[in-house]
Amino acid sequence: MAKNLQAIRGMNDILPDASPRWAALEAAVREVLGSYGYAEIRFPIVESTELFRRSIGEVTDIVEKEMYTFADRNGDSLTLRPEGTACCVRACLEHGLLHNQQQRLWYAGPMFRHERPQKGRYRQFHQIGAEAFGIDGPDIDAEMICMTARFWQRLGLGDVRLQLNSLGSAAARAAYRERLVAYFEAHADALDEDSRRRLASNPLRILDSKNPAMAPLLAEAPLLIEHLDAASQVHFERLRELLDAAGIAYELNPRLVRGLDYYSRTVFEWVTDRLGAQGTVCAGGRYDGLVELLGGRPTPGVGFAMGIERLLGLLEADAEPAAAGAPQAYLVTVGAAAELAGLVLAESLRDALPGLRLQVNGGGGQFKNQLKRADRCGATWALILGDQEVADGSIGVKALREDEEQIRLPRAHLTEWLRARLPARSGSTA
Ligand code: HAM
Repeated sequence: MAKNLQAIRGMNDILPDASPRWAALEAAVREVLGSYGYAEIRFPIVESTELFRRSIGEVTDIVEKEMYTFADRNGDSLTLRPEGTACCVRACLEHGLLHNQQQRLWYAGPMFRHERPQKGRYRQFHQIGAEAFGIDGPDIDAEMICMTARFWQRLGLGDVRLQLNSLGSAAARAAYRERLVAYFEAHADALDEDSRRRLASNPLRILDSKNPAMAPLLAEAPLLIEHLDAASQVHFERLRELLDAAGIAYELNPRLVRGLDYYSRTVFEWVTDRLGAQGTVCAGGRYDGLVELLGGRPTPGVGFAMGIERLLGLLEADAEPAAAGAPQAYLVTVGAAAELAGLVLAESLRDALPGLRLQVNGGGGQFKNQLKRADRCGATWALILGDQEVADGSIGVKALREDEEQIRLPRAHLTEWLRARLPARSGSTA
């Protein structure tokens, strides 16, 4: 027997019983984004490898070991997008969206990283992200953070905490880097292998090490926040003032450095203790040098992205949202003539009632079996067309969730009968 084909490890199917939860989360987030004036942008899932190398940084976990990179049939090196910020900047530059104008944008979709799969960490995962361009003040950083706080409020997530740090300007970081290298070199024997390698290429990332043996060394390391340039310091102070005024609580985390190289100044993460090691549900920050790095004029940028799987993981324990997808009506058709009349009836109902969720029996079958299917799919009513109904222009209606007698209506009255019983939106003829 042929071997069953399976999904790629770390890449998940989202089955029909789960998708209403995805849709509800996406709808809530989309609504909040709209209320802050953010517009949707969509870009391809595949980009040139060079885009990610340049923006995320050569010496990062993502570029070094996690990208899905392949040569296409022309021999060009392409990569499945591991994140959206680089793609968003590329698209904005390509279409001239950053010329003397501000942009507030959002995007949603799958991202790909070849990480070791575990709960909350997948190889295809989904983000909703937002990016704002052309605004260098901390007011926009505060707006982004307020907006994310509003997502959690809307979704009913009470237990995510905000962590905040500033990475300063590129120059301040370069000076700090030297200090840090000197410190680690003085304690070279305490470095693990990964850190020794990073010492030459990306010493800041050593601070991110999760190796417990490194913890005492890291605890004593000099902190970037103590060596910020004056302008970044003012920027950060003002951001804190704005967040305080908005009533947004945060923890300062001087060790928050993020895993992508493009950040400068503000960085933040929303974390929870409920998801074990994969506790960051949303992360972002400012990247004032990225647009220039990718060939544009110097343009400040700031943004974040949240992991949908992780947010849904948090919501899982909470109440299930009502199953929004169940059909309202199921059309039972017995016999060839009824099948034909049923098709015509179903199409005319959909014309008249655009929001109606109507499922038509497929593949024939006995009356009893069709009714069973109607019941199983969660429909409120079974609409019944048999030989007799076809002959006399009527339709049977059986309430499936209430203990009521089956009724028979002239078929011409069915639209009005349904309209009177459907929620306002699905009964409209607009
Ligand atoms: P990131 O921290 O790499 O940042 O990812 C953002 C979020 O995506 C994470 O906090 C997490 O919730 C989710 N995530 C990341 N990797 C995985 C995975 N393997 N499985 C499940 N969820 C995952 C970025 O991607 C930046 N582009 C964010 C940003 C936008 N910064 C500025 N603008």
